[in-house]
Amino acid sequence: MEETKIITKLWGKIDPFSIESYLGRGGYRQLLNFLKNPKTKKETDKARHEIIEAVEKSDLRGRGGAGFSTGEKWKLALEESKKSKKPLYLVVNGNESQPGSFKDRFLLKKNPHLVLEGIILAAYALGSKQAFIYLNGNFKEEIAIMKQALEAAREHHFLENEFSGTKEKIKIKIFPGVAGYIYGEETALLNVLEGNLEGPESKPPFPFQKGYQEAPTVINNVETIANLVPLLEIGTAKYRSLGKGSASGTKLFSVSGSVKNPGVFEFPLGITLREIIYGTCGGMEKGKKLAFVQAGETGNFISGEKLDYPLVYGGGAGKISVGSGNILVVDKNVVLEDLILSWAQFYQRESCGKCTPCREGTYQLLKIAERLKNRNLLEGDFDNLEAILEVMEKTSLCPLGNFAIQPWREVINVYKKDFFLEKRREK
Ligand SMILES: Cc1cc2nc3c(=O)[nH]c(=O)nc-3n(C[C@H](O)[C@H](O)[C@H](O)COP(=O)(O)O)c2cc1C
Ligand code: SF4
Repeated sequence: MEETKIITKLWGKIDPFSIESYLGRGGYRQLLNFLKNPKTKKETDKARHEIIEAVEKSDLRGRGGAGFSTGEKWKLALEESKKSKKPLYLVVNGNESQPGSFKDRFLLKKNPHLVLEGIILAAYALGSKQAFIYLNGNFKEEIAIMKQALEAAREHHFLENEFSGTKEKIKIKIFPGVAGYIYGEETALLNVLEGNLEGPESKPPFPFQKGYQEAPTVINNVETIANLVPLLEIGTAKYRSLGKGSASGTKLFSVSGSVKNPGVFEFPLGITLREIIYGTCGGMEKGKKLAFVQAGETGNFISGEKLDYPLVYGGGAGKISVGSGNILVVDKNVVLEDLILSWAQFYQRESCGKCTPCREGTYQLLKIAERLKNRNLLEGDFDNLEAILEVMEKTSLCPLGNFAIQPWREVINVYKKDFFLEKRREK
């Protein structure tokens, strides 16, 4: 299946270091339209409302994983800001430390001004005077590109405007954050922005209620924000129709593993894994056979008929919840125990340690994974495994505790208890 390029339309066609290059391809047109039109306060409010309405009607869902409606989040934050008379902050999440995810980095590197134009438009529409671009501290190149892009946008006076006689200025700060998976979780991220490493907080309150400095805060993923310009450009109806079936718009996918052509691709939402793997990605590498695909919100193992299920937000029977769009293609040569061990190492390393079930649970899971790999599982390990998974599922403070157990649940579902028992007998 061919890619549908709306976010990636200019990839490879512009110089990411040159604002002129982006302007020359119609860049900042949506922002300029917005900035020059409103003359009176009424007109300004109308222009703001039109952007928010377009986002809502487009059914744009958060591309950071959870798929929450962006329009709804914006409206809820606006209501809170009005009620509490507190400023509204906008934070763009560019932490991207999920295993196998690299689409936000590509986006920032290949078309930084598309992301920036989206941020500026969102800030004006939401009436937010301060926005943050939170970038994983290890993303040195992306940080440098975004800083350069921001400076160029500032020089073009895109961050200030006069609306009906009143000067309005927005501040945008690029914040190189702490590297680590957990700092992509919105409440942990906000703590870093405020200067502490306290990790995630329990919700509610949600950031749109109490976020940065206790004020209502909209947190959106880089890709979510990058949708704003193309969405306004082509209009809500056209945008919605890009998705397959009832899905709306397109999605970036980070494809890795044993396919001929891995990379970042933009496809309509509602596409299937089979179309992605055997279409644009060129099928399996020579001599390799597909074992399963790890994809979706919780890293499910997908094979057989499920390869033909549509990737959408919401999931449900006969569908796969798309999450942040990571696709890891695993072939039959991969030793499952090695894969399990690498997940266990990852989650044990990334657990922030704030709550006991996840701190202790990820450690115990790592020990079991090591014994599984070394074929010296102890009697009772399987029963303990099930108990640990249950406790972590029910009592972890944040979703990372649940993410850490999902691969184990999949192994148990797919390969059953015998897989574990055999590892004892082989000892
Ligand atoms: C452990 C963990 C890591 C996360 N990492 C990211 C991340 O790197 N980028 C991101 O946009 N969202 C991440 N999220 C989701 C954010 O908490 C939040 O839902 C998202 O940034 C909201 O933006 P969206 O509505 O545009 O998707 C993570 C969530 C969890 C639980
Ligand atoms: S579930 Fe894990 S990552 Fe989340 S707060 Fe608890 S220890 Fe930290």
